[in-house]
Amino acid sequence: MAFTIAIDGPAAAGKGTISKAVAAHFDCAHLDTGLLYRAVGARTLDGTGPIVAAKALVAEDLAADNLRTPEVAQAASRVAVIAEVRAALVDFQRAFARRAGGAVLDGRDIGTVICPAAEAKLFVTASAEVRAERRFLELTGKGTETDYETVLADVKERDARDMERAEAPLKPAEDAILIDTSELSIEEAVAKAVSAITAAR
Ligand code: C5P
Repeated sequence: MAFTIAIDGPAAAGKGTISKAVAAHFDCAHLDTGLLYRAVGARTLDGTGPIVAAKALVAEDLAADNLRTPEVAQAASRVAVIAEVRAALVDFQRAFARRAGGAVLDGRDIGTVICPAAEAKLFVTASAEVRAERRFLELTGKGTETDYETVLADVKERDARDMERAEAPLKPAEDAILIDTSELSIEEAVAKAVSAITAAR
């Protein structure tokens, strides 16, 4: 039977790292749904309309290597407020969630909208300052020139847009287990996630 694990939370809270580790632990597939919005956002930077881009999205687009830039992240959060863009991406995500071997999906609305019946739901958070610090180290580690204040402003702007939008706003599902990673190491956060999911299985 397909077992779906929904992991939601704001940018740079540790969702990606936790989701990969959880998928490896339970030996199931993983979909980073932020990549769908990033791929659509990237197309809009080339001048394509967001709804056209969302409807034309194919799995190969998720492998493009320019999707991790701050510019594309902002474009992603701008297209993500559009109801037709979100609607165009639903079937792909739900089909992925039903994979026979089980699946982990991480994003903003997996537990609330995409997979409300997921067997396990986590909401991963951390303070905006901790998240900005992590994202700053990640970006500078890759050679991107930026400063902490810019990254913090970027994180807060995206949080506000993701939480205040009318369509599928970022919020924990009522039955989600909250994990605040502000004071946790990666190992501790992964261990908490694995034990919460094990208890739900
Ligand atoms: O998670 P990531 O930072 O890659 O997501 C980029 C943007 O895509 C988010 O800021 C959010 O606006 C949007 N997104 C969304 N719903 C999801 C995943 C991402 O609205 N399930």
